[in-house]
Amino acid sequence: MITLKSKREQRMMHEAGKLLAACHKQLSKQIKPGVTTAELDHFVEDYLKKNGATPEQKGYNGYKYATCASINDEICHGFPRSSPLQDGDIVTIDSVFNLNGALADSAWTYAVGTPSPEAQALMDVTYRALYEGIKQAKVGNRIGDIGHAIQSYVEPKGYTVVRDFTGHGIGPTLHEPPQILHYGSPGKGLRLKEGMVITIEPMINIGEYPSKLDSNGWTARTVDGSLSAQYEHTLVITADGPLILTDQGDAHLYM
Ligand code: MF3
Ligand code: CO
Repeated sequence: MITLKSKREQRMMHEAGKLLAACHKQLSKQIKPGVTTAELDHFVEDYLKKNGATPEQKGYNGYKYATCASINDEICHGFPRSSPLQDGDIVTIDSVFNLNGALADSAWTYAVGTPSPEAQALMDVTYRALYEGIKQAKVGNRIGDIGHAIQSYVEPKGYTVVRDFTGHGIGPTLHEPPQILHYGSPGKGLRLKEGMVITIEPMINIGEYPSKLDSNGWTARTVDGSLSAQYEHTLVITADGPLILTDQGDAHLYM
């Protein structure tokens, strides 16, 4: 069932979102060659504890960590690990914060040291694609308008949109209907209503879009080994347009 959130629920999710956004800004300063994603995961756990919040991903369908840390050709659901990040890697850190029962979900791709021009271009396109999608998240539009905006921004530049993972409704649990595809046709799909809270989280590849699952049963990576990036926000559909709950302070530049 698609739930519409009250103003109070929206405010509580916004508090969770602000905490998660602040955590991402701290992560961005720590990510450099030699750091491990296990260390970053511990930092996030610690940060949650200090702020009276909990890691919603931990224990979710048996997932063991506070974060997903997906490196280079990993699309999503990478496990934090104890091998050091290398100069030129890109790493997506994804986490879901629970603050007083309210959830927020945000993923961000970071460059480790100096990225290649190809990796930087992929990150730029993926980041802009997120905001192209968010601009369509308004009352009266349909879900297909979001996916279409992302797909039609990304594909002419030669990149591909991952099909196997989608955005989603969020609250009271992590994955709620509706599914938010990052590709699609304008004017198609469910109509967006005031009070819906959703994630938009395009995963964009340099190569082809098919993914395969690692033997750990979780981690998805590109079949062709090409790089994949992802940016994700949680947002509310309001009468005044989308309100980004996990904004790091940059959204106004693109909205
Ligand atoms: N943020 C991820 C998502 O968008 C969360 C995955 S949770 C996991 O859905 F536990 F499944 F990893
Ligand atoms: Co999500």
